[in-house]
Amino acid sequence: TAVTIVLGTRPEIIKLAPVIDACERSDVGYSVIHTGQHYSDELDTVFFDQLELPTPDHNLGIGSDSHSAQTGAMIGAIEEVLLDESPDVVLVQGDTNSVLAGSVAASKLDCEVGHVEAGLRSFDRSMPEEINRVFADHAADHLFAPTEQAAQYLREEGIPVERITVTGNTIVDAVTRYRDLAAEKSQVLDAHDLTAGEFCLLTAHRAENVDDAERFSSLLRGVAEFAARSELDVIYPVHPRARDRIDAFDIDVPDEIRLTEAQDFLDFLRLESTAQLVFTDSGGVQEEACILGTPCVTLRDNTERPETVAVDANRIVGVEPAEIVAGAREALDTSTDWENPFGDGRSAERILDAVGLGPAASVEGVTG
Ligand code: UD1
Ligand code: UDP
Repeated sequence: TAVTIVLGTRPEIIKLAPVIDACERSDVGYSVIHTGQHYSDELDTVFFDQLELPTPDHNLGIGSDSHSAQTGAMIGAIEEVLLDESPDVVLVQGDTNSVLAGSVAASKLDCEVGHVEAGLRSFDRSMPEEINRVFADHAADHLFAPTEQAAQYLREEGIPVERITVTGNTIVDAVTRYRDLAAEKSQVLDAHDLTAGEFCLLTAHRAENVDDAERFSSLLRGVAEFAARSELDVIYPVHPRARDRIDAFDIDVPDEIRLTEAQDFLDFLRLESTAQLVFTDSGGVQEEACILGTPCVTLRDNTERPETVAVDANRIVGVEPAEIVAGAREALDTSTDWENPFGDGRSAERILDAVGLGPAASVEGVTG
């Protein structure tokens, strides 16, 4: 096998779909290992179906556990498959435990490791994702930085420049491919009785928010307060982790916020493109809102996506209600004609090219 792609969670499936597609188009021999970190249909199979991805060659079925137990189980199981397949290159994407496991296992074997979406930094080491990013970047032979800023962080950490390629983010490839289809096919607005431009979209799933009853309740209160004052509906597609926490903490979700199940990609893209405002603690949602021209209010104390803030598409407000309301008002008063900082939608080709497998030797460095 030329390339083995390791993935395990919703954002990895979505952001590696363009890479899988590029392998197909360029006739590159590849295999896919699914760690099983995400296993519920709404976080997993729904994306394989909708993005027309092949069933993974290996599903390790690791499932949920504590960080080290989960990561450790994945490392052993990934090693077994890699020993059998001896790929030239192993690709991982992002900052989850599946990424950490894939890069640790591959870096100890005779194959190269490529990290897609390298060089993101929140500089907050209390986030499990930050630890995963740093480890994965330093284990990698090929670092695919989505932006010049990310490449800069890598150089500042002493990573040799010849390992780093600025490719853009593969999420632009995915959004470019699916946004029109979403506008054409998705019935999500009707299904939820929403009018384009007259509602807010909320997602919150990050451990530091939803595992802390105070922070979770506070962010919900802030979003509800803004919605009540501006007479907007709020729809919140709930990640299973957040659903668990709402039940366990018995959180009183304000009436202004309508909970619904996690959405498939086309419906979610449609919600993001037609919302007046997006409130989120997701990494990928900050990027997509920026790409789609919808203002974003980030319910965190920092971001590893500073490009979105630099172009005025995103405000980092934390979880205090007064800050959320003020940030949302400011966001609505800002013009939305910013430029997408995440590239031109040809990131997947550049990634294959950088490992010597793409047809696109002629694709020049990313612009934008
Ligand atoms: C993981 C990533 C996070 C990423 C998110 C994407 C880590 C450390 N975290 O968080 O960076 O933003 O995926 O969505 O890798 N659960 C289900 N069904 C599933 C998977 C999980 O019900 O298919 C529930 C379980 O109760 C589980 C909890 O969600 O304990 C957390 O799952 P886990 O994979 O540990 O982390 P995520 O919160 O999904
Ligand atoms: N997403 C989705 N349905 C939802 C919520 C999110 O398809 O109900 C997609 C979204 O379009 C983005 C990705 O999931 O591409 C973001 O994943 P998530 O927020 O779980 O993780 P993060 O990006 O924070 O790691």
